Amino acid sequence: MSISIALTKGRLEEESIKLLDKAHYDPSELKNKGRKLVFKDKSADINYFLVKSADSITYVEHGVADIGVVGKDTILESDTNCYEVLDLGFGKCGFIVASLPENDIYKKVGHVKIGSKYPKVAKDYFKDKGMDVEVIKIEGSVELAPILGLCDGIVDIMETGTTLRENGLIVLDRICDISARMIVNKASFKMKQKEIGEFIEKIKKVIDK
Ligand code: PRP
Repeated sequence: MSISIALTKGRLEEESIKLLDKAHYDPSELKNKGRKLVFKDKSADINYFLVKSADSITYVEHGVADIGVVGKDTILESDTNCYEVLDLGFGKCGFIVASLPENDIYKKVGHVKIGSKYPKVAKDYFKDKGMDVEVIKIEGSVELAPILGLCDGIVDIMETGTTLRENGLIVLDRICDISARMIVNKASFKMKQKEIGEFIEKIKKVIDK
């Protein structure tokens, strides 16, 4: 049986292709893709397609893709019901809480506003801390929000820390580590046990620890 794999385009794309190469699959079509979105592996009965991270989870959940490669940040923000089978060891970063140095949200008295691309992660974190905060959903360049006074602090991903540093923000807390994960549709996992099991094993062998 053939398997289909939803890869996340953008930041995780290049490393996903490298990993497939290392495991002796043939993702060559993905390297010269133009505007194409669906690709055939010439060495195995596999179809790849490239989508945005949250869509990768949606495709896997609906069984349109058997397997997905997606960041743990997107998994934590979703209510996914898929199996998370492997930490792929790339796309490493962390969820952090940050603010301007003069605005420590843990010491602020009164209403606290938090900006984030990840409102669920932010709400869960502050609920755990027993803090009642207002979470404002922001689509991008989250670091700008506290500078302009839209919020007191942010919950965001940090990789090198450059964006925070260059905008004068400091890390107040690190929530958790993030990296790319392999997810599998639950029904596919049973129905295509042999094909998916083989794929997982081959990838497992070439993951950089
Ligand atoms: C992410 C994140 C930070 C930045 C962190 O944004 O939201 O802004 O990367 O990386 P750094 O620690 O290496 O500086 P992204 O580049 O995905 O763009 P966006 O803000 O427009 O979503």
